[in-house]
Amino acid sequence: MAQFFNEPSRTFSEYLLVPGYTGPDCIPANVDLSTPLVKFRKGEEPELKLNIPMTSAIMQSVSGERLAVALAQEGGISFIFGSQTAENEAAMVARVKATKAGFVPSDSNVRPDQTLADIVFLKEKTGHSTVAVTEDGTAAGKLLGIVTSRDYRVSRMDPATPVSTFMTPVDKLICAKEGVSLAEANDILWDNKLNQLPVLAEDGRLLYFVFRKDYDAHKSNPMELLDSKKRYIVGAGINTRDYETRVPLLVEAGVDVLCIDSSEGYTAWQQRTLDWIHQNYPGMRVGAGNVVDAEGFRFLAKAGADFIKVGIGGGSICITRETKGIGRGQATAVIEVAQARNEFFKETGEYIPICSDGGIVYDYHMALALAMGADFLMLGRYFSRFDESPTDKLLVNGTYVKEYWGEGSNRARNWQRYDLGGDKKLTFEEGVDSYVPYAGPLSDGVRQSLAKVRSTMCNVGALTIKELQDKAKLTLVSATSIVEGGAHDVILKSSVNK
Ligand code: IMP
Repeated sequence: MAQFFNEPSRTFSEYLLVPGYTGPDCIPANVDLSTPLVKFRKGEEPELKLNIPMTSAIMQSVSGERLAVALAQEGGISFIFGSQTAENEAAMVARVKATKAGFVPSDSNVRPDQTLADIVFLKEKTGHSTVAVTEDGTAAGKLLGIVTSRDYRVSRMDPATPVSTFMTPVDKLICAKEGVSLAEANDILWDNKLNQLPVLAEDGRLLYFVFRKDYDAHKSNPMELLDSKKRYIVGAGINTRDYETRVPLLVEAGVDVLCIDSSEGYTAWQQRTLDWIHQNYPGMRVGAGNVVDAEGFRFLAKAGADFIKVGIGGGSICITRETKGIGRGQATAVIEVAQARNEFFKETGEYIPICSDGGIVYDYHMALALAMGADFLMLGRYFSRFDESPTDKLLVNGTYVKEYWGEGSNRARNWQRYDLGGDKKLTFEEGVDSYVPYAGPLSDGVRQSLAKVRSTMCNVGALTIKELQDKAKLTLVSATSIVEGGAHDVILKSSVNK
């Protein structure tokens, strides 16, 4: 006879937090959002911690190198997507590790034979007005010049004008040499009244730009997540098929932590992958998942996972529940797995952090997931909306949007994530291809969301995530009281003015 869970499984929107006592010191500025990323023994400190409880989803449309740097600057971590060749993934990791605070790899590049139309297109796409002109049109090619908005007038020039005729050539530019410090670079910017400073290798290849506008931004990144050599911390997704070739390349590239990316993690394949990594790279930290109950958690805990991801079917682009009928309401899954984690800790003295993956729609869901026991969150849709995600920003029906597609969609074709040991192909889709509303720079969005989380924590009377978990009082809400939770029985001015 099948096993039945007595209660329906529930999701975040069905819960609210009931406030606790707020003491005089319990103010948002005193809230500490740091949280363990990997397992640790009672009384010890985890080897890796996050400064904010956020990680970005292991997805093509989310976790590229630019987002990884932006998120590490805010104190979180990205897991670079694994649904690409191992070589490309390792190269992305290596570029994140090579990025130095304040030194930015150029994201807008052209060859000298390209045209004004290409420059205009690039500016529209990236939102950046400095374009590097390199011999081969790549970010690391030999620098021949730069184009900024001062170099052209779209209304007066033929779109077919070649870049070489209006760029500022490299011999008229002030450049710095490899090895220049950020303080020196900033002095050069100020002394020469420049907006950007190209930093070049000995042979003239472009390495980075240092921008005047980033000066304040860098100084105001107190939460940056850095390794002992002051490089950004970055993770990478792996699968249960090609780990023997992929993991060595990622380790070589300097990856800090790995995560097995799978839609369902209670499998022999995950055990094998963990065993192989532990045997061959004993110091490497690796997370596993996804699971949605205590049994799945215990399996991966005993298999040696450093953290465990929770969630099946709750992702915004996910149609797993509709296609295969597997999954569980995200809140119920987190609550049950958090209990299992606490029991495991009592029995063994080993604390294995859990990550609530998918289904965060409103900022308050973040506070709820943490209160329910998650140590940190993984977000896809949320991060895909920002400038730094790897996808195109488009204008659709008068609104700016970004593209966001699931790893189980035909577009991503990440068959390894859905692999159950059969043919190497995706027989049916478990994800959709979509648009999400564009939301500007990551740092603004993350700071705004976390300001709300801090505020909620103060209402609960908690200054740390651990305190939030210990003190939270959660109540289920009826369907009618959910209606009461939004603006109601008023005529919204925005609807009158439409
Ligand atoms: P979101 O934050 O609600 O958008 O959910 C992101 C999460 O959805 C990811 O971290 C994955 O666990 C999951 N996911 C990614 N792609 C797919 C897919 O194609 N189908 C089902 N789940 C997916």
